[in-house]
Amino acid sequence: MPKILVTGGTGLIGGHLIKKLLAENYSVSVLSRSKSSIEDIEFYQWNVRKGEVDINAVKSCDYIIHMAGANIAAKKWTQKRKEEIINSRTQSTQLLFDTVKKHNPKLKAFISASAVGYYGAITSDHIYNESDKAHDDFLGRTTQKWEEAADKFISLGIRVLKLRTGIVLAENSEALAKMTKPIKLNVGAALGSGKQYMPWIHIDDVCSAYINAIKEEKMNGAYNLVAPQHINNKDFTKLIASILKKPLWLPNIPSFMLRLLFGEMAKLFLFGSRVSSKKLLDTGFSFKYTKLEMALKKLL
Ligand SMILES: NC(=O)c1ccc[n+]([C@@H]2O[C@H](COP(=O)([O-])OP(=O)(O)OC[C@H]3O[C@@H](n4cnc5c(N)ncnc54)[C@H](OP(=O)(O)O)[C@@H]3O)[C@@H](O)[C@H]2O)c1
Repeated sequence: MPKILVTGGTGLIGGHLIKKLLAENYSVSVLSRSKSSIEDIEFYQWNVRKGEVDINAVKSCDYIIHMAGANIAAKKWTQKRKEEIINSRTQSTQLLFDTVKKHNPKLKAFISASAVGYYGAITSDHIYNESDKAHDDFLGRTTQKWEEAADKFISLGIRVLKLRTGIVLAENSEALAKMTKPIKLNVGAALGSGKQYMPWIHIDDVCSAYINAIKEEKMNGAYNLVAPQHINNKDFTKLIASILKKPLWLPNIPSFMLRLLFGEMAKLFLFGSRVSSKKLLDTGFSFKYTKLEMALKKLL
């Protein structure tokens, strides 16, 4: 079976994906900043800032799934944090590119995580698809630079995929925990206008889409990884409350309060547009979770 090298394999998506890859008998290795260990997995190390990588990780793999990057919602977006968010993605991609060029130019595909943040932190009626341009804001520019770094692999004749993922819903996801916690405490409320869309996807579908990207040689370029159902923040919040059988009695949390608490990062919670999954569906991909209600009932 092909050997898959996963960067950021210790993270939320990586953890689930690795289990699925192993269940499908792929051989899996992980490139990490630390000396971790997971059963049945070879761990290699790198230090992106210093430009150091264990070349054995790259030499021996057939596919690279690149998911490493500083978490965008973990800390306030100071100038320093913004640089870390960008550099951890672009410099790591460049380091992989240089290493592949030298040691493994026959790599079968470079599959890079990306995000619907490509389309920017904006609320509009437009349904974004893969041919739309990157938005000129921090999220848009960051994702664009990340994808441009991945596209360099095309010059080596390597298939490149950029999977523009929405909010990943999983049992252990921070995003879901942050949404459900106040509701469980009876103080839940929609955020800002509540009209912002929240493109979401269940973790099982994320993993299946990544594995499809390995298998389907015809898949190329950018794909949106979002469920086909579009839902805004108000209806999302209402649905969580009704599944948890909790009341929603508070008015929406005002935008200014979120800006005070989170600074510019509040844009993550206050804005969002609809994103199309048509291109992925057209490859024959079938979602296990098409409706948010199905996903939440499974996860909560
Ligand atoms: N989860 C979502 O809802 C979502 C949505 C859209 C896009 N994405 C993207 O998909 C990728 C995976 O998401 P995730 O939720 O699994 O991420 P995550 O849980 O935050 O894990 C990312 C991994 O990246 C590595 N990492 C963290 N900071 C780093 C840094 N400064 N430099 C280099 N590596 C660093 C870590 O691995 P080591 O400690 O092993 O090095 C970490 O486990 C990310 O790039 C994310 O932006 C996620």
